[in-house]
Amino acid sequence: MNNIDYILKKDDFTKEDLVILLNTNEEDRKKIFEKAAEVKKTYVGNKVYFRGLIEFSNICSKNCYYCGIRAGNNKLVRYFVTEDEVLEAVKYAYNEGYASLVIQSGEQSTKAFTESIYNLLMKINSITDNKMGITLSLGEQSEETYLRWKEAGARRYLLRIETSSRELYSKLHPNDKHHDYDERLNALKLLRKTGYQVGTGVMIGLPFQTVEDLADDLLFFKEFDIDMAGMGPYIEHEDTPLYQYKDQLLPKEERFILSLKMVALLRIMMKDINIAATTAMQTLDKMGREKAIKVGSNVIMPNLTPVKYRENYLLYEDKPCIDEEASECKNCLEARIHIAGDEIGYNEHGDSIHFKNRQ
Ligand code: 5AD
Ligand code: SF4
Ligand code: FES
Repeated sequence: MNNIDYILKKDDFTKEDLVILLNTNEEDRKKIFEKAAEVKKTYVGNKVYFRGLIEFSNICSKNCYYCGIRAGNNKLVRYFVTEDEVLEAVKYAYNEGYASLVIQSGEQSTKAFTESIYNLLMKINSITDNKMGITLSLGEQSEETYLRWKEAGARRYLLRIETSSRELYSKLHPNDKHHDYDERLNALKLLRKTGYQVGTGVMIGLPFQTVEDLADDLLFFKEFDIDMAGMGPYIEHEDTPLYQYKDQLLPKEERFILSLKMVALLRIMMKDINIAATTAMQTLDKMGREKAIKVGSNVIMPNLTPVKYRENYLLYEDKPCIDEEASECKNCLEARIHIAGDEIGYNEHGDSIHFKNRQ
């Protein structure tokens, strides 16, 4: 038995263990993937749940250095999907048996915005008999806003910490009150306090990021006791400040493998949470989402955003599904999930088992 076999026998990893596991070579990483697949099968089964994604608006008040829709990028047309278009997409999802939706947008906190979301939630619930599991991904908001949206039926919230390292966080964002690590952490705490199923995540392969940072990210998830995770590789975007470091990044294949290891290790560490197979995984590897499903992911987000808006929601380069209609993404993902050997949990919410167990 070598050192990796020995470490994999435990399921509470130390930081040192995680660094070793994240640094594994091809032969040893297969052992991690096998163990993760086994844990997935035992604890969450072989069902993958659809979350229809609506990229509601690309207007954002923030200026994260990595993101293609940052406020400072004036090369794109800013939009809101209209209420009718959202409801159209919701009807499609409902009829197709997607039991959940994700509404995502750049960060906006005007009263007009928070109320438009409230109204939208009420309408979505009324046309779907309150049957949709609704997830929001709308950035940092006040406790009052989180409660208001919850009152309108939102149940889950995704807010990536982006990196758990305070130091790295400050290199990825402008150093002002609007991009403060503690504020972000506090927003996650408010989401927990207000009763949401809380999802967070990080980007993998960022400039200046070390394997130790990634080990800390995994320990952070465990410590915060998250219910859901969405992680993916960092992908450069030409019209952002971080693009200048593109030559310092890991090659795409290695960045992908590192992301896959993160998914697998998180599955081993947090057996019953929901983990997304993210679109960014597929950007670096044609079979990226299938591979993520094999090593632990159990949630996937078919895009429902009307096609005419999609080219203006490019968070990073080569984002897939720019021209594909909702029905094409559905067929594509169905096929991908079957290739990975899993089934789709149509008409099931697929709530985080971890959340239920904590209640
Ligand atoms: N590469 C990968 N992911 C990115 N995101 C933003 N920009 C990038 C990028 N260049 C991710 C962030 C954010 C989510 C909505 O998209 O993690 O939380
Ligand atoms: Fe805005 Fe989110 Fe992009 Fe930051 S990552 S600029 S908050 S959309
Ligand atoms: Fe959109 Fe494959 S998921 S085309």
